[in-house]
Amino acid sequence: MSRVNSRLRPFGATIFAEMTRLAVAHNAVNLGQGAPDFDGPEFVKEAAIRAIRDGRGQYARMTGLPELTAAIAQRFERTTGIQVAPDEQVVVTCGCTEAIVNSMLGLLEPGDEVVLFEPFYDSYPAAVAMAGGIAKVVTLHAPDFRIDEEALRRAISPKTKLLLVNSPHNPSGHMLDDAERNILARVAVEHDLIVLSDEVYEELFYEQAHRSLAIEPELRDRTIVLSSLGKSFSFTGWKVGWAIGPSALVAAVRAAHQFTTFCAPTPLQVAAAAALQAPDSYFTEFRADYRARRDHLAQGLRASGLIPIIPEGSYFILADHSAFGFDDDFAFCRFLVEKVGVAAIPPGAFYVNKQHARSLARFAFCKQDATLNAAIERLASLGSILANEKRDAR
Ligand SMILES: Cc1ncc(COP(=O)(O)O)c(C=O)c1O
Repeated sequence: MSRVNSRLRPFGATIFAEMTRLAVAHNAVNLGQGAPDFDGPEFVKEAAIRAIRDGRGQYARMTGLPELTAAIAQRFERTTGIQVAPDEQVVVTCGCTEAIVNSMLGLLEPGDEVVLFEPFYDSYPAAVAMAGGIAKVVTLHAPDFRIDEEALRRAISPKTKLLLVNSPHNPSGHMLDDAERNILARVAVEHDLIVLSDEVYEELFYEQAHRSLAIEPELRDRTIVLSSLGKSFSFTGWKVGWAIGPSALVAAVRAAHQFTTFCAPTPLQVAAAAALQAPDSYFTEFRADYRARRDHLAQGLRASGLIPIIPEGSYFILADHSAFGFDDDFAFCRFLVEKVGVAAIPPGAFYVNKQHARSLARFAFCKQDATLNAAIERLASLGSILANEKRDAR
């Protein structure tokens, strides 16, 4: 009998663990999990090593090392033009994941409702549940994944406290446009909602520059911006994240943070401060590398007969597999990992209403050229492997 409590029982194990297990079992090229298969920059690693050698091995200040909260505030001002007080308006967490859960734990009363847009990063509904909140889900539809104002309004009730938004978006790569930003501002003001803006892919944009939701004047006083080192510096395993916002909202996140992890690892915070002071050329090159990877994988997916939805941001591509006649996304991804030797994620994992994901698969392109080339080579035989399977089954 399961001893997992009723709040967490519905969530089970994450799909990433299962797809990684299958990828290993079938010696597949893993484009499943969104973790780079290359290391982050040397100057950041050196800063961490130096911090360890220098004896910076004790707890950091609960709200974040002063040098890191200052660097976060500086970078935020550089990208948004908004000045924040590092001692009041920033908190450093163990990855964005902790910032998400501590926002819920610090802000929600039991029974408060939180609007989530599906497909969503899979920790969102679990974080809401852990805090005793209730998730209300609004579906974003392929291929453009834009917010529909009517659908959003239908999800709102007098109990709604918070909207959780993610742009650039995992898994679709969509970035909120002006019309969607206006919808969010209108609805949030009208219903006096807090907005949690997950911007972990803030440095990964390919068409237009990312603009934080906090830039919207109506949203600034009600928005917490979440981000982390993991995606922007290719250190997903370091788990250094942060929340930035009005001091009253950040105080709520801190209230939970002090009793969950208290602080993120000190030497990694030292290195994160160095990372955030990287010159503009770092970010320009970073994006150029990723744009090349995106275009390369999109071309390979297209050549295999899949139909990629080209992402404006993030490091994922959703592709439509309906031409191949599988029942759903899980069936397709299972075939792909077992028979073709490429692991992708069935995006049903990011939906409550899983039928919307049936024709899609998510591929991560945060991979070395050799990995992408190997995947593309294998994907090229997708059609013929499937035809052989069907012939043998007859
Ligand atoms: C949208 C989104 N938010 C948050 C996270 C987690 O970030 P971190 O690793 O910093 O906890 C991820 C990781 O994949 C993500 O895709």
